[in-house]
Amino acid sequence: MAQNKKILVLNGPNLNLLGTRQPEIYGKQTLVQIEKKVGALAKELGVEVDFRQSNSEGELVTWIQQAAGKFAAIVINPAAYTHTSLAMRDAISAVGIPTVEIHLSNIHKREQFRHHSFIAEVAVGQIAGFGLDSYLLGLRAAVAQV
Ligand code: DQA
Repeated sequence: MAQNKKILVLNGPNLNLLGTRQPEIYGKQTLVQIEKKVGALAKELGVEVDFRQSNSEGELVTWIQQAAGKFAAIVINPAAYTHTSLAMRDAISAVGIPTVEIHLSNIHKREQFRHHSFIAEVAVGQIAGFGLDSYLLGLRAAVAQV
């Protein structure tokens, strides 16, 4: 029953630079273009999406905390905080909202330091390596949880 369900889509640091940031790894789409495609799919699936980006770990933690009781699921590209943030992991555990972790690139095919995710252990699952489609697949996976 996805109708009237709200999904929070969170984006971590440097994702505001998409389009010009290492396009060979992250693609040529800007975050605004990705947001539009996610919005179009949300409409098709009958859910409402709130799409946000922050470079600040604290702000992301606050948004996760505030999602309690407001959002049915979270889709998150934690960017570099994937590999460092115990605080974001704890916030996801604390609110208990089903969370889908997504990445544009396949982090497991890249440098060793990107192989570990603090978020994976508290996420329903992880989608990585499909570029823009990681967002669309992530939204579908989140909607299937609600
Ligand atoms: C990323 C992968 C991370 O390792 C990296 O720090 C990012 C983006 C991705 O979407 O592929 O900023 O999350």
